[in-house]
Amino acid sequence: MSGHESTYEPKTGIEKWIDTRLPIVRLVHDSFVGFPVAKNLNYWWTFGAILAVCLVTQIITGIVLAMHYVPNVDLAFNSVERIMRDVEYGWLMRYIHANGASMFFLAVYIHMFRGLYYGSYKAPREISWLLGVVIYLLMMGTAFMGYVLPWGQMSLHGTAVITNLIGAIPLIGDGIKTWLQGAPAIGNAALNRFFSLHYLLPFMIAGVVVLHIWAFHTTGNNNPTGVDVKDVKKDTVPFHPYYTVKDGFAIIIFLMIFAGFVFYAPNVLGHADNYIPGNPLKTPAHIVPEWYLLPFYAILRAITFDIGPITAKLGGVIAMFGAIAVLFVLPWLDTSKVRSLRYRPLARQFFFGFVFVCLMLGIAGASNPDDVVIPTGSDKLRYELAYEDQAGRDALKASADSHEGSFSTKDGRAIVMFDDYEQSLEFAEAAGIEDPPTVYHPGIKWLLIAQLLTFCYFAYFLIVLPLLGLVEKPKDEPETIAKSIHPEPKSSDIAAAPAE
Ligand code: HEM
Repeated sequence: MSGHESTYEPKTGIEKWIDTRLPIVRLVHDSFVGFPVAKNLNYWWTFGAILAVCLVTQIITGIVLAMHYVPNVDLAFNSVERIMRDVEYGWLMRYIHANGASMFFLAVYIHMFRGLYYGSYKAPREISWLLGVVIYLLMMGTAFMGYVLPWGQMSLHGTAVITNLIGAIPLIGDGIKTWLQGAPAIGNAALNRFFSLHYLLPFMIAGVVVLHIWAFHTTGNNNPTGVDVKDVKKDTVPFHPYYTVKDGFAIIIFLMIFAGFVFYAPNVLGHADNYIPGNPLKTPAHIVPEWYLLPFYAILRAITFDIGPITAKLGGVIAMFGAIAVLFVLPWLDTSKVRSLRYRPLARQFFFGFVFVCLMLGIAGASNPDDVVIPTGSDKLRYELAYEDQAGRDALKASADSHEGSFSTKDGRAIVMFDDYEQSLEFAEAAGIEDPPTVYHPGIKWLLIAQLLTFCYFAYFLIVLPLLGLVEKPKDEPETIAKSIHPEPKSSDIAAAPAE
């Protein structure tokens, strides 16, 4: 797993005895002590170690929570409340676990964007990247199933939204949905299997992390210049003590921020509705997932139109999974020979644009798609009316015209809108309408913004990266990592230096 020649020398008799039978100390030494690492790694490279800490924290706190949690629809909510109130330090375990999930995703997003910026997904590190995407998928599955367990309002209805999506698959969708839920609706069977899988998946993540580390230890780490290690002596330093200390420092800062959430704002990242026991008969006004899944939720809801035989619902599901699937082919989409965006000024601009798109997708996911973002006119009073035949339609149109209203039809219904309140009342009276009009806000809605952002998201991977790699002229890269840190002085600098 160390990927380089061993530097371990067993000293004592017992060390030699173990080393000839199971060279595990050698493996750990070569992987985490003597392992040569590029000497120019910046703090963005500490997030791998931070992620490892997050995973261990989630597993330990999760195991303690599982000792007190009851996976039964009648008891789950109260068992969590008991953990919070009666179990010794139960509140601490739960708050660490719940906020830990958010911190884990925060760290993983930084880690992934780091990889995108410095081209860590490019040859020869494709497998490190692909295993990373597998880990990310497993993390999303784990977080989603964990959110179901407290059986609050958001747990229940959020799960219903997502599992219903499976029903969008033609012909077999409903069958698969029932099979996954263990029943036609979300209930005890679903809660039990989600608990079982939520316990299992983190251990699978741990297994894939081992492969992940093995993969980048085989190729060696990337570094901020993206330039390969040419001379191990000049370009690298041993992992210990250089990076153990640097990673350790970053972990302490990260844990301080983490503790800030746990002790001072433990519920700020959660949704208040999840403190209401799940009630299948009462759907919350706005169902939103946790913040780290919001960009994908926005993509899912952005497809509101049928594309040939693909219904809008299925299209949304395909787009959502496509947004992750595209990461699997990323190493082969980017055509540039230069890894680090430090030397690709144009690609760097697009990268920051892409980060902005992802953040905006998150905001779009949290917003109501029908809410107006940019108003384009004054509010109008709107009636949506049924008509029986052409004559009925014409009569409504004539009445709307005579009261200075605008008339249109949508899905076989008449839409009549007024600027003026009095006119709208007269129209309603003439048409015998009793219900009051609704208020229509003309403008660009979140839905359109989410659709544009979704286009930009895919365009970055499928158009920008493939084309830019072919047309952009990169800046000169340093010859070696060592030279990027200690550049040789130019002769003009030497001449300009004051004589001693
Ligand atoms: C539990 C989650 C994860 C853990 C514990 C983890 C751990 C690590 C560690 C310790 C490193 C080396 C140090 C560093 O580069 O920061 C690393 C490198 C890397 N990770 Fe992850 N990782 C995780 C998730 C991911 C994900 C989700 C991706 C991408 C989708 C990813 C992509 C990469 C890549 C490409 C490298 C190589 C970077 C290099 O060589 O410099 N990792 N990971």
